[in-house]
Amino acid sequence: MERFKVTILVDNIAKGNLVKEHGLSILVESERKSILFDTGQGNALKHNSRALDIDLKDLDAVVLSHGHYDHTGGLDHVLEIAPNCELYCHPTVKKTRYSVRDSKVKEIQPPRSTVQALDNLPDAKLHWIKEPIMIDDRIGVTGPIPRRNAYEDTGGSFFFDTQGVEADPVEDDIAIWLIKDSELTVLTGCAHAGLINTIEYVEDINPGKTVRKVIGGFHLVNASKERLQKTVKRLQNMDLIVPCHCTGKKAKNYLQSCLGKRVRQGEAGIVFFF
Ligand SMILES: [Fe+2]
Ligand SMILES: [Fe+2]
Repeated sequence: MERFKVTILVDNIAKGNLVKEHGLSILVESERKSILFDTGQGNALKHNSRALDIDLKDLDAVVLSHGHYDHTGGLDHVLEIAPNCELYCHPTVKKTRYSVRDSKVKEIQPPRSTVQALDNLPDAKLHWIKEPIMIDDRIGVTGPIPRRNAYEDTGGSFFFDTQGVEADPVEDDIAIWLIKDSELTVLTGCAHAGLINTIEYVEDINPGKTVRKVIGGFHLVNASKERLQKTVKRLQNMDLIVPCHCTGKKAKNYLQSCLGKRVRQGEAGIVFFF
């Protein structure tokens, strides 16, 4: 039976001597494919892959969940190591964008080195994802995720301008899913489109199959009590929930208090087999 190995390479928290970083990178390996979902800010990925004895040279693909610096850094380094690797992301991933909060402005788009690496990729290797596609018969990429649940406030402090006028909906936010029989695992970057929106969209794309595991950034830092309650209700049928990166401590504790041991704190260095 073919199985998946999923390794968290970069996260805000890290095991032992691994480097922690505000960012996310997850390696998915099956017998046939090796796929890197996000690259963090770049530094932790270099250090942690070496420390975990993971050679990225055999990567088949990199998927970028969205165009934020903490998910796309060091792409140039990865593509240098793995020259045959294909790249999957949404066409607006390179857009200049800002976080504007309490009049503090910060550029949060991918670093220039990543944009250059994308620009240098031959067309045949760069896949702009505007709709769901399969990378392999058991690994899919969502493309933009419809935001159907009203309780999932997908806004935030993201803007295309420094004045905070033109809101950035992060429409490039995409997720991946892994298929094992009738069960699905969803990997999210920051889940800017909403965690439940993402899970439900993956189920829509895969009729007859159910999402049982979800791993990634859930972006619940500013979630209301109502949103957290509805999120927990929808996650009742899961058997593994791994909040990483931007989920927020309060939200993670709430998930754990309601869903018990099925919730496992994500951190760099954790490996799952299924
Ligand atoms: Fe993030
Ligand atoms: Fe993000």
